[in-house]
Amino acid sequence: MLGHVVRDYPSPRPVRVPPGTHAPPLRAPRMPDPLDAAAAPASPRLRVFLAGATGTIGRATARALVRHGHEVVALVRPRSAEAARAIAGLVVRTGDVTDPASLARDGFAGERFDAVVSCLASRTGAPADAWAIDHRAQAALLAAARDAGVTHFVLLSAICVQKPRLAFQHAKLAFERELMASGLTWSIVRATAFFKSLSGQVERVRQGKPFLVFGDGRLTACKPISDDDLADYLAGCLTDASRANRILPIGGPGAAQTPREQGEALFALAGRPPKFTQVPVALLDVIAGVLGALGTVIPPLRAKAEFARIGRYYATESMLVWDERAQRYDADATPSTGTETLAEHHARLLRGEARDDRGAHAVF
Ligand SMILES: NC(=O)c1ccc[n+]([C@@H]2O[C@H](COP(=O)([O-])OP(=O)(O)OC[C@H]3O[C@@H](n4cnc5c(N)ncnc54)[C@H](OP(=O)(O)O)[C@@H]3O)[C@@H](O)[C@H]2O)c1
Repeated sequence: MLGHVVRDYPSPRPVRVPPGTHAPPLRAPRMPDPLDAAAAPASPRLRVFLAGATGTIGRATARALVRHGHEVVALVRPRSAEAARAIAGLVVRTGDVTDPASLARDGFAGERFDAVVSCLASRTGAPADAWAIDHRAQAALLAAARDAGVTHFVLLSAICVQKPRLAFQHAKLAFERELMASGLTWSIVRATAFFKSLSGQVERVRQGKPFLVFGDGRLTACKPISDDDLADYLAGCLTDASRANRILPIGGPGAAQTPREQGEALFALAGRPPKFTQVPVALLDVIAGVLGALGTVIPPLRAKAEFARIGRYYATESMLVWDERAQRYDADATPSTGTETLAEHHARLLRGEARDDRGAHAVF
């Protein structure tokens, strides 16, 4: 989905963390050296209930939680069960996460759990779906979690909720507030841009087509984070006390990147001279305006107008920590974790060694 832009961030300076957030410690290596194991403090094996285990980050999080040594139970809808069962070590149950009765009966099944990790998210971002999933289903999950004796709830959220303008952002924020007021220990992970949201043009470039950017390609910037690095960070919230009761903005390693920089890196990988086509942001305003007006008489077009607004948001807003006082995005205040870079991912895509499961609100 993301548009993206802005450049020339200085080399790393000490991370400044906005109030209410916490700078993460460096990520532990994913595969610990067996020689260090005796010296390392043993992590407790927790019973973890995972929601959204079949999504992009959910699948990676299931793998990470199992790798961290936890017992992981996931509730998935029947149509997604086969994909979930392919995840080694994951206990898969089928039911309806939007139905409190099914959550209790089919999901938690009267058992006790230590923690919930939720990667649940609306697949479309359309207003009705966003409120149904990002708010109501999450709230039902929280209630069921409490009944099951859960003491820690880890929520995957999005950094864009810090400047909410879209329905799904308001739905996510409403649940964030309920979670913080729940009395449970909570960790709210507001991630920056996922690799899949920044990889929609790899095939275009491979075919020799120009890379599309909004404006001059420098309107926004982000710190791309890989599925596995984010999953590792989410799993780490269960055992790292410094991530308890914190809103945690988190991006991937390295400097923030504009779309133009991402495109330049992609052309270099593909061995082609850079070629950009600039798309005016006003085009999205026109589309959103027309669809919004038509939506007053043709209701299905309302959701399409929201998709255009989502596109416009990502074309003009950075996925970085927003400095309210200075009224600007701050790359240095946006914490980083992990090791995997977008360029490495793009190289794998170009070689055909990876593929993305792109969401419904991809723009390019
Ligand atoms: N894309 C980005 O760059 C980005 C950046 C920062 C944060 N985020 C946030 O990260 C979160 C997760 O993103 P993602 O890309 O991993 O999500 P995703 O791939 O779309 O996965 C969504 C998950 O929620 C489940 N789900 C959705 N609707 C459901 C329903 N009606 N009933 C049951 N399950 C349902 C899906 O189950 P099924 O598999 O059965 O559909 C899936 O497991 C979202 O909150 C997103 O806003 C995204």
